[in-house]
Amino acid sequence: MLWLGAMAAKANGEACGLCGGRTYLIERRGELATARVCTCSVDCPMCGGRGHRLVQKEGTFSAKVGPRTYEVLEPCVCTLRRTRVALYNDVQMPGVMAHASFDNYRPFNEAQDRGRGVAMHFANQYVKGATNKGFVLSGPVGTGKTHLIAATLGHLVLEMGVKTRYVEISLLYATIRRGFQDGKSGGEIIGPLSEVEVLAIDELGKGRGSPFEMETLDELIARRYNAGRTTLFATNYSLEPERKGARSSAPSGYRTTDDARSAMKDAELLRERVGERIYSRLCEMCTFVELPRDTPDRRRTRQEMDAPPPMGGMRNPGR
Ligand SMILES: Nc1ncnc2c1ncn2[C@@H]1O[C@H](COP(=O)(O)OP(=O)(O)OP(=O)(O)O)[C@@H](O)[C@H]1O
Ligand SMILES: [Mg+2]
Ligand SMILES: [Zn+2]
Ligand SMILES: [Zn+2]
Repeated sequence: MLWLGAMAAKANGEACGLCGGRTYLIERRGELATARVCTCSVDCPMCGGRGHRLVQKEGTFSAKVGPRTYEVLEPCVCTLRRTRVALYNDVQMPGVMAHASFDNYRPFNEAQDRGRGVAMHFANQYVKGATNKGFVLSGPVGTGKTHLIAATLGHLVLEMGVKTRYVEISLLYATIRRGFQDGKSGGEIIGPLSEVEVLAIDELGKGRGSPFEMETLDELIARRYNAGRTTLFATNYSLEPERKGARSSAPSGYRTTDDARSAMKDAELLRERVGERIYSRLCEMCTFVELPRDTPDRRRTRQEMDAPPPMGGMRNPGR
């Protein structure tokens, strides 16, 4: 019945109530967010389910004969859709992000508004195969950094067919460590991540700062930087270039776990967490967006924020 309802809505020229006319849905399935073709678009009226269509083209092959029309077999839009849905399922986006879109992101201050603007601009202006400048979103917990990354990757994959991957940095370190026990080299895991067209690295700066972690991160970012590939980042560490009273001796190399622990208290700058080599590359690869420390944690204040806003607040009117 749902299917008929959706088809009827389409026939009347309304957008499908399930997918809003996007023809695909993103849903949480276990730990991951997965995409599927919406019921309104499973049966394709364009190609009758064949998956390809004959398209009329015009071309001039010789001056004598002049322009001629001819037919070519092209993949139907439904084939493209199925391919992109399959591609989304390779992103490995966490299931909790299945709902995240640009439409349901609400900025509560100017920095979040700018963050959304930078992410949307990146997504809309992305040119396949070209060098595209990525972005770094820095800010406190629960401020929608991963949400914006999920919305961006969703757009790239499902609207444009770009190959992307999402990784949370400490899970990546853990995966590589586990791989060592199974006789895999770090390179086997880093290799595909170095080569994917767009990579999102979440929680940058997190971890123990051990030599293994620093080397892994250095290799991944240097390889992407050298190849001119686009990388997006989110971090809880600050991007502010200098802070009064901050230690001036930023570690440029690797440090021991004990050193890292004792530095934890005052090392809140991303530059100090990842070292000069990586930070310098980020400056060239990305646009920086910093959300202020007082940006509300959406996880804690969701109910309060979902109530009607106070007069004159920054909150978007919503839809
Ligand atoms: N501005 C916002 N508009 C709508 N939803 C938001 C916003 N900020 C956060 N959320 C929602 O709140 C939850 C937490 O957001 P998210 O995981 O993106 O935060 P984060 O900044 O990545 O936090 P952390 O630093 O802890 O990783 C998610 O469900 C997300 O969709
Ligand atoms: Mg996050
Ligand atoms: Zn639909
Ligand atoms: Zn079709």
